[in-house]
Amino acid sequence: MNTLIAANWKMHGDLSWVTKPSEFRECYPLNGQKVEILLCPPAYLISAMNVACNNQLISLGAQNCHFEMQGAFTGEMSAQMMRDGGASYVIVGHSERRALFGETDKIVAQKADAVSMAGLTPIICVGEDRSQRESGEADEVVGAQLQSSIPLSADGENLVIAYEPVWAIGTGLVPTLEDIAAMHDHIRGILSNRFGVKMAEKIRILYGGSVKPSNAKEILALGDVNGALIGGASLEMDSLAAIAKCVGS
Ligand code: PGA
Repeated sequence: MNTLIAANWKMHGDLSWVTKPSEFRECYPLNGQKVEILLCPPAYLISAMNVACNNQLISLGAQNCHFEMQGAFTGEMSAQMMRDGGASYVIVGHSERRALFGETDKIVAQKADAVSMAGLTPIICVGEDRSQRESGEADEVVGAQLQSSIPLSADGENLVIAYEPVWAIGTGLVPTLEDIAAMHDHIRGILSNRFGVKMAEKIRILYGGSVKPSNAKEILALGDVNGALIGGASLEMDSLAAIAKCVGS
C-alpha cells in the first residue's frame, strides 16, 4: 500500500496558498515514490486548489463535513460538496472537532458514513487524552472509539484510521516508539476482528501528533504505521517534503 502523508492545515491559509502544490513538488519531485501526498486545506480553498493539485498528483481532502447530503443546516457543507470541489478524503472526528465542537463517536460514525456514501474516503481520528494515557486506559479508550466511530455499514474498503493521542497534538510531545507501535498493533487487531485479517492489512493507520522532519523517519519506519497526519509541520512545504522523504529512507 502507498504510505499516506496527510497535511491538516486546520484554519490556516489564504488564496495565495494555491501555489503550495507546485512549491511542494519543487522540494519533492515526482519520481514514482510509493507515497501519496494529501493536502487538507480549509474547505473554501479546495476547489481553488483542485487544478493545482491534479497537475502535481497530489490528493485533496476536507477537514470536516456534515452527515447529511443537503438541507437546512446553515453554515454546514456536505461530503458531496467536498467531492464536487475536488476532495477525495475527509478527516472526521479530529480531536479538535470532538473537544471544541462536541462531536461524539456517534456523530463521527454518521459523518464517516456520509463520506463513504459520497464516494470519498473517511480518515477517522481516534486517540486518548493525557489522563487516559497516564491511567493506563489508552488501549481501552481507543478501542471504544474505533468500535463506535467506524460506521456499522463499513466493510473496511476505502477507510483510513488516524491514531492521534490528544496530548501529542500541537505540543511537541510524542509517545515513545514502543507506545506508537503497540497502539498501532492494537488498532490493527481491532480492525482484523471486525473486517478480517486480509482486509485489515489494507487499511492505512496513520500516526498524528507533533510529527516533524526530525522524528518522522523513526515513526514512519514502524511496521504498522502506514503514514502520518501532520498539522503544524505541514504548513511549510519544505518541512512537509522533508517528512515525505523519510518514507522508506
Ligand atoms: P500537529 O497536529 O502535527 O500540529 O501536532 C496534528 C493534527 O492535529 O492532526
